Amino acid sequence: MSAARERPTVYAFDMPAAALPMKPHGLRLMLAWPRILFTVLFTFVISLPLALGWKSGFLSLMARTIGLGLLALVVFGLFEQWPKRLPSWLARWVLQVVAVALAMPIGTFVIYTLSTAPGAPPFWEVPLRLEGFSALTALGYVEGEPARNTEVSERLLVGSSPESIATFIGHQGDLHWRVLDLLPEAVRDGRAYAMHEERQDDAERWDAYIRGLYEISRPEHDANAALVPVDSPQLLVDVAGGHGGFAMAMCRRHPGLRATVLDLPPSAAVGREIVAEQGFADRVEFREGDVFELGLGENLDVVSVFNLIHHLPEERDRELVRMARAALKPGGALVIGDSARPEPGGKMSAHGAVSSLLFYAWSHSRNFTPSEVRGWMEEAGFEDVQVHQNVRSLWRMVVVGR
Ligand SMILES: C[S@@+](CC[C@H](N)C(=O)[O-])C[C@H]1O[C@@H](n2cnc3c(N)ncnc32)[C@H](O)[C@@H]1O
Repeated sequence: MSAARERPTVYAFDMPAAALPMKPHGLRLMLAWPRILFTVLFTFVISLPLALGWKSGFLSLMARTIGLGLLALVVFGLFEQWPKRLPSWLARWVLQVVAVALAMPIGTFVIYTLSTAPGAPPFWEVPLRLEGFSALTALGYVEGEPARNTEVSERLLVGSSPESIATFIGHQGDLHWRVLDLLPEAVRDGRAYAMHEERQDDAERWDAYIRGLYEISRPEHDANAALVPVDSPQLLVDVAGGHGGFAMAMCRRHPGLRATVLDLPPSAAVGREIVAEQGFADRVEFREGDVFELGLGENLDVVSVFNLIHHLPEERDRELVRMARAALKPGGALVIGDSARPEPGGKMSAHGAVSSLLFYAWSHSRNFTPSEVRGWMEEAGFEDVQVHQNVRSLWRMVVVGR
């Protein structure tokens, strides 16, 4: 053996054992915590449209959809790893999709059979239960043979329907999923995605964002306008009013009112189109820019701020409330509408919790409690501050003060 070959090998780069983490496999991969979280959130979102036609309570629906979601998770994970080798003509993802698609009706059948009380007729003989079964297997979107839209799909998912929320569920929903994908980063770095700053040049997605918000908020503006305690107002500034839905409702209610929607340029561009489509272009105008740079003006009867405070740091929100006080006439009203954080010890709704999670990932801030918002308003000099629960979405608040 030569001297060179006897020399011990020295590996110059110290490699900690943790440098090459083993990819988890088996149950650890199948039931990894991020997957379970994703499944629960995904099934929750799917449950929302189904809930509109569900007769036996949201909890019974959630129990079924979460059960099915977890079944899909297990089947997906099983065929991700088994069998180890596949014939070259069969892609693994195809196997996984087919397996999940087959597992869903079988799983639903088992759930309905197991939840049938002893002695009760089988579920397919009870029309309401059969309806529930087909809602879960076809997600309630189609029925009959040949398949046609159910009443809910026709009303809420067809773009031309006056109640359509198709953009909110489709394109804006896609934005929500992308933002939720960034949740781990937000948790790790403590920094949110800052959606309004990052996306200003993405006109297509911004259009979906503002049109989606218009669709989802459309049924509530008239009720919100009725909560504002003013007689014959002349001037309204709707801060971050985006699509103009609230400004138009106020104009409908008060014939002498002129409204200005103050919003960032990409929101104002979409809002202008919507307001023109709705025939309010002569009464609702837009001012483009950052509210803290433009200011609010003076002698206003109403300042409204819907769904902005959860995007701003608390200090900015307090500043905005002080700006509103200074811009309003004596007796003028400030109205703030947003998702509410429950008061300490208060009851948390599932919808509220999901909205908080979403805002945590994409905004600089959080949801605030009604008492916090009331406190900012009282500190700024508003009297007679009233907190209302939003009539349609009970986890949301409308706070008004004069
Ligand atoms: C969630 S949307 C709310 C839109 C509408 N008010 C609603 O409730 O459906 C938030 C809006 O705040 C606007 N915005 C964010 N920061 C702003 C700022 N500094 N000044 C003015 N508008 C702002 C965004 O452009 C967007 O239109």
